[in-house]
Amino acid sequence: MPVITNIEDLRRIYERRTPRMFYDYAESGSWTEQTFRENTSDFRHIRLKQRVAVDMDNRSTRSTMIGEDVAMPVALAPVGLTGMQTADGEIKAARAAEKFGVPFTLSTMSICSIEDVAENTSKPFWFQVYTLKDDDFMRRLFDRARAAGCSAIVVTVDLQVLGQRHKDLKNGMSAPPKLTVKSVANMMTKVQWGLGMLGTKRRFFGNIVGHAKGVSDPSSLSTWTAEAFDVSLDWDRIAQFKKWWGGKLIVKGIMDAEDARRAADIGADAIIVSNHGGRQLDGAVSSIRALPAIIDAVGDRIEVHFDSGIRSGQDVLKAMALGAKGTYVGRAFTYGLGAMGEAGVTKSLELIHKELDVSMALCGETDIHNVGPHILYVPQGFGDPTVPL
Ligand SMILES: Cc1cc2nc3c(=O)[nH]c(=O)nc-3n(C[C@H](O)[C@H](O)[C@H](O)COP(=O)(O)O)c2cc1C
Repeated sequence: MPVITNIEDLRRIYERRTPRMFYDYAESGSWTEQTFRENTSDFRHIRLKQRVAVDMDNRSTRSTMIGEDVAMPVALAPVGLTGMQTADGEIKAARAAEKFGVPFTLSTMSICSIEDVAENTSKPFWFQVYTLKDDDFMRRLFDRARAAGCSAIVVTVDLQVLGQRHKDLKNGMSAPPKLTVKSVANMMTKVQWGLGMLGTKRRFFGNIVGHAKGVSDPSSLSTWTAEAFDVSLDWDRIAQFKKWWGGKLIVKGIMDAEDARRAADIGADAIIVSNHGGRQLDGAVSSIRALPAIIDAVGDRIEVHFDSGIRSGQDVLKAMALGAKGTYVGRAFTYGLGAMGEAGVTKSLELIHKELDVSMALCGETDIHNVGPHILYVPQGFGDPTVPL
């Protein structure tokens, strides 16, 4: 077993162990992938301020996100098809998150269903909903999430229409995978993955097949998906979801100060500054560059969370120091999951936690609540995309 010291180590193992179509599905962005790349590279423009001779005893990364205690302000982002990265992937990731003390968010487009995850965990998790046209289905999703004890819903608002990832089209990405000569030849080299998949019955979209009207078997799913998303989504519709759900609601996919204000106006409990990990609007600014203006606009009215591009605890620290109250990782935990299952997710969380803790200490802070712009060097105009860096 190689010595794993950072998230990139996990990515390399994940790449070796996972069928190409699922690796590519995660490790790509839309069109030219400019936004996907800049989400990570833009973090490097922000530098940390070293401080010395500060008592670094009794450090704490503990905080809260929407009022829930977290061991560190890092939740697992909703990632569709997690159960194709490894068998029963959502259950494994949710268990690792629960043991670590951070929130797990289940995607609508998961393989394990809401009920599967609830039966295999003991603490409430968060449920992500896409905004779909079918009111009955949406209401039933909320009912199922309530019955499963979910403590918040995350409404993703940046996917009315789908961004295109070239590799997914070329690979014929689907769940379960299409059996072509190329995909079978590739899957035959992923023995552990294949044995896991043979040993589970969870190989389809568990929240949809058997629940959505007209989707009784996986073959009818693609027609449903093509027509299900609500192209006409607006803020009234999001407010309606808030009423139907009646509990904590997080709006995911905000990249603009005016949109952030609208989310605060409808009474959302938090927003996630996110460009969907560079999977939707290619050419959009990186999420970290969008964060400062949104904090300025609504930071005192609503909890601002952040995702897209986090690959280390230092990235978490930078987002928190810019004013985020919580962060999410998508690919960083997916790499761990595909590499080593539940233990791999735990490993990614441990790595991020250690990097966060040590970096915070070397910046002279012992409590995550006290980090702020004073620990950063931010290039002038960083939040202004018209200023070249
Ligand atoms: C493979 C993959 C699948 C995703 N599926 C969903 C999803 O079903 N729902 C959603 O709201 N976001 C989804 N996202 C976006 C993530 O929730 C998150 O915004 C993104 O991964 C953050 O960027 P990062 O991967 O750089 O951390 C997905 C991301 C990836 C990589």
